[in-house]
Amino acid sequence: MKDVYILAIETSCDETSMAIVKNGNECVAMVVLSQMNTHSEFGGVVPEIASRMHTENITMVLESTLNKAGMSVNDMDAIAVTFAPGLLGSLLVGLEFAKVLSFVYEKPLIKVNHIAGHIYACNLVDKIQFPMLALVVSGGHTDLLIMERDYKFKLLGSTLDDAIGEAYDKVARVIGLPYPGGPNVENYAKQGTHAYDLPIPMKDDSYNFSYSGLKSNIINLVHNQKQKNIEINPYDLACSFQNVAIDQLVRKVDKALTEYGIKNMTVAGGVSANKYLREQMQALAQKHDANLIIPEMKYCTDNAGMIACAAFPLFKNNSFASLSDSATSLDKLYT
Ligand code: KG4
Ligand code: ZN
Repeated sequence: MKDVYILAIETSCDETSMAIVKNGNECVAMVVLSQMNTHSEFGGVVPEIASRMHTENITMVLESTLNKAGMSVNDMDAIAVTFAPGLLGSLLVGLEFAKVLSFVYEKPLIKVNHIAGHIYACNLVDKIQFPMLALVVSGGHTDLLIMERDYKFKLLGSTLDDAIGEAYDKVARVIGLPYPGGPNVENYAKQGTHAYDLPIPMKDDSYNFSYSGLKSNIINLVHNQKQKNIEINPYDLACSFQNVAIDQLVRKVDKALTEYGIKNMTVAGGVSANKYLREQMQALAQKHDANLIIPEMKYCTDNAGMIACAAFPLFKNNSFASLSDSATSLDKLYT
């Protein structure tokens, strides 16, 4: 079969990224332009600023991706783009740009769900084997699901309130660490011990998760200690939070591996960049004699490489989008 090259565009949040991926599993070139420094001044992503910056940078990101690959848009077999979920204005910048490329260069357009992208990033490491248990942990998602075949997902459970990444970001703010909170809390956690006694959420039998109680508990703790003029140890608090937050994931993944006897698993989404989580999942994989795929760091946080991977099965299936299709801030990949 002839090699297939897909140019993918990802602008769902605060990264302007493009990548060229060969046959859905080999990244030829990727550029990720992060707006993190701009948004960190505001303590989080400002949607209007994000879409403006995507608009300013997107042409430059295309040029530099093509230069890196030594290819032109004419060499592509399709243009893929994230259409959901995410910030609507940001998504639209990427989608409209993709439509222009598709129209001008007469290439098929493929719409990709961002979460599918995080899961399909596995293919950059090793081909996904079905069924695969996938734990999706990001700023907006905490889901446990079984992928039965391409684009066939069975949801086992989800967060009942906040996503784990959201909790990391909130805890970072409470202990005075800058945005993005996740990596900073992880860094502090490494230097602390589990000295704070925090409530253990979701000890039930379900596959659901909960992070708002843990988050509120930490906010109240910091507030009460401040009122009593007692200093909080931010390293210990970060460590205590991380242990409790990740223990919840470990318990549910352990249960699912036992109940379903699945031998392939992945952890996807921005929080999968967390080393402690990666170690815990590696230990679980060993315990259950399962094969764990976690993409390298640069493919864990938002990037266009993963979008091209998720576009590949849609390309093979001729599932192309039309120029009248729109972006949407919410899209359910699985129900
Ligand atoms: O997938 P992602 O880049 O964007 C969304 O689709 O949401 O995930 C971003 C989330 C943020 O909440 C960020 O704090 C968290 O992933 N994150 C981490 C780490 N790196 C990123 N959380 C914990 N530890 C990390 N090392
Ligand atoms: Zn993401």
